Amino acid sequence: MSLAVMMPIHKPVMLYEVVKALQVQPGKRYVDCTLGSGGHAEAILHRILPNGRLLGIDTDIEAINIARNRLAEFRDNITLVHSNFANLRSICEENGFLPVHGILLDLGVSSTQLDTAERGFSFRYDAPLDMRFNREETLTAAEIVNTFPEQKLSHLIRNYGEEKHSRLIARQIVRNRPITSTLQLAGIIEQAIGHRHGRIHPATKTFLALRIAVNRELENLIAVLTQALDCLEPQGRLVVISYHSLEDRIVKQFISRESKECICPPGTPVCQCKHTARLRIILRKAITPSIAEVKANPRSRSAKLRIAERV
Ligand SMILES: C[S@@+](CC[C@H](N)C(=O)[O-])C[C@H]1O[C@@H](n2cnc3c(N)ncnc32)[C@H](O)[C@@H]1O
Repeated sequence: MSLAVMMPIHKPVMLYEVVKALQVQPGKRYVDCTLGSGGHAEAILHRILPNGRLLGIDTDIEAINIARNRLAEFRDNITLVHSNFANLRSICEENGFLPVHGILLDLGVSSTQLDTAERGFSFRYDAPLDMRFNREETLTAAEIVNTFPEQKLSHLIRNYGEEKHSRLIARQIVRNRPITSTLQLAGIIEQAIGHRHGRIHPATKTFLALRIAVNRELENLIAVLTQALDCLEPQGRLVVISYHSLEDRIVKQFISRESKECICPPGTPVCQCKHTARLRIILRKAITPSIAEVKANPRSRSAKLRIAERV
């Protein structure tokens, strides 16, 4: 049986909107920095034939293998690289992929990763507390919950999970060490802050915080955004889908700053920053999935798509 058949397959989010935002054209070069199961990549590839090229990056070797299988018919038009997108500039250089016409970031975790129990991303399944996108890295969620001091844990849960009960949760975690499994951790969080009141499980925000910390998601995002500017050709498009407010804030602020000619503090009489605009904002408001898409794919509900163009 092929890998693609065995694994839960991820549904690409806002597929039509992404292809339109990237202005995909035959013969051009595109980078999909978050290849995942290759859903967006496949749609791009169909539209760039016969001479266009797609560079697909993922830090998860299992995602690369699934996508390689799925995209086999395009083998002459693709280059797949197992790496962190924080290395975007050097990956493009090494693969003769500069400048590029469009760069896509579809951030976060895929359904394939979430629904593969042993990856430890979800408290819907009992599994070791792992949460690494790249299983060659050493830091796991188990290491964080079992070794971080209580205060550091509490800050992490508050800052990355925007969880107002972070102190209670951190205290209960420290009291119950060692914690080895997803369900054990979810149970400890429930004990700390009570049972589910609304639609969201009490462990949701803490699990998000741990995943962000394990994978250094915000640091990697900041790194790739800056490098994307160096890789895009004039009028090339940067398209980013984010799934939580911390990511979206970083993307929004980056695009806003890079679209300004001057970033001196307000009231500075003569410009001293020597900044120049390198991006043009295509839409000020983020695009969100249609009601029909959210119904068909509830995991798309928090998605926000932002588009900017290199000037
Ligand atoms: C939401 S999924 C992308 C799904 C994909 N667009 C599709 O259509 O199947 C996000 C993917 O980005 C990958 N990823 C997350 N952070 C990464 C990073 N820093 N570098 C490279 N890949 C990363 C994850 O491993 C995951 O496969």
